[in-house]
Parts: sequence; C-alpha cells; structure tokens
Amino acid sequence: MRKKVVSFLASGRGSNFQAVARKIQSGDISRACLGVLVSDVPDAKALEIARDFGMKAHFVDPRAFASRAAHEKAIVKLLKEANTDLIVAAGYMRILTPYFVREYKNRIINIHPALLPSFPGVHAQKQAFDYGVKITGCTTHFIDEGTDTGPIIMQRAVPVEPDDTAESLAERILKEEHVILPLSVDLFCRDKLEVKGRKVVIK
Ligand code: GAR
Repeated sequence: MRKKVVSFLASGRGSNFQAVARKIQSGDISRACLGVLVSDVPDAKALEIARDFGMKAHFVDPRAFASRAAHEKAIVKLLKEANTDLIVAAGYMRILTPYFVREYKNRIINIHPALLPSFPGVHAQKQAFDYGVKITGCTTHFIDEGTDTGPIIMQRAVPVEPDDTAESLAERILKEEHVILPLSVDLFCRDKLEVKGRKVVIK
C-alpha cells in the first residue's frame, strides 16, 4: 500500500503537529509520509518546527486575499501540489469554508480540546472549566461544514481536579491530545476509518 501524504494546518505553537510529525518520521505511523505545513500566522512556532523536520512550511497571509475563499484556494493549491491525502488541523484557528471541506471531504482531521459536542469553538478548556464540569477531555473528528460538528473519531476523558485552574486543566488535556491525534492519523493511513453518516467506524 502506498504511503499517505499527511499535511498540516496550524496557527500556533504546534505541539500537536510535532507529536504527529515525530511519529511519522520515526516510522511509528508507518503508512504515512510528511507533506507540507501551512500557517495563517507569520510567526507561528509550527512553521519553525516544520522546517526542522525538513518539511516545506508556508505562511499564507489571510490579509493578502480579498476573500476567505481566495485565501483557501491558495492553501488548497499548496496542499494539492504536495499530493496531500490527509490534512491535519493541528491548532488551526480558522473555520474552513464549505469549498475547502468539499475539496477534502472526510480527509481533514481536527483536534479539539473538549469532549464534543460540548464546548465547541475557541477556548474550549476554559469554557469547560468555567462551566464547572467534572469531566472534560479531547476529541478528534473529521471536519464537516459546521463548527466542530463533524463525525467523531476518538475521544479521551480528563477529570477536572478540585485544585485545577483553567491552565493546569488545559495542560492535562494537551497530553491526551498528543495521544489521540497520532492514533487517529495512524488509523486513517491504514484505511481503518470508515465514515457512515455521523459515525466513524474503526475497522
Ligand atoms: C490545542 O489545544 C488544540 O486542541 C486547540 O488549539 C491548541 C493548539 O495547540 N485547537 C482548537 O482549539 C481548535 N478549535 P498546539 O499548537 O500546541 O497543537
């Protein structure tokens, strides 16, 4: 079986991207190879990490385009030039338009720092902390045309401890993100994920 090319979208520090890229480079995710990384933030740490992995890293400036669609077209062009099979949204803080989602239907995996469908959107860890839940966690899912609404691949629960702050909770959630995101990518690359309506069957 041909290795799948995995490319990344990231806006920030890139720890989830790094967790996946390490496992691809080491051969732990054996059916994958590294594609490109695209960021919408010029000084995103993820760009630097990608270059350290020997990957092409592109900053695509959203302000240089007249519309979201035009910005996404430029990104999709780069992803296609790299023959991308799977896109990982690893802390990419923009909602993808239907155009982008349709170009890569069921081929974009997102990591979200809460147990969806609870606490979609930004600052999910703080949303959960402020709400007072006793258990939160993280979710990987395929991106669909909604906001954090796509079919769920994996979830991990994280208990909220009495002495937690939003920051300490976010740190523990992040450790679990670094587990389920590489596992989800590995399953995809071994053709083990089948989307049936809202559900993802792990074969
Ligand atoms: C992660 O916690 C990720 O789950 C979250 O951003 C952080 C990025 O950290 N993503 C979202 O909130 C998406 N809505 P990282 O750059 O170190 O991977």
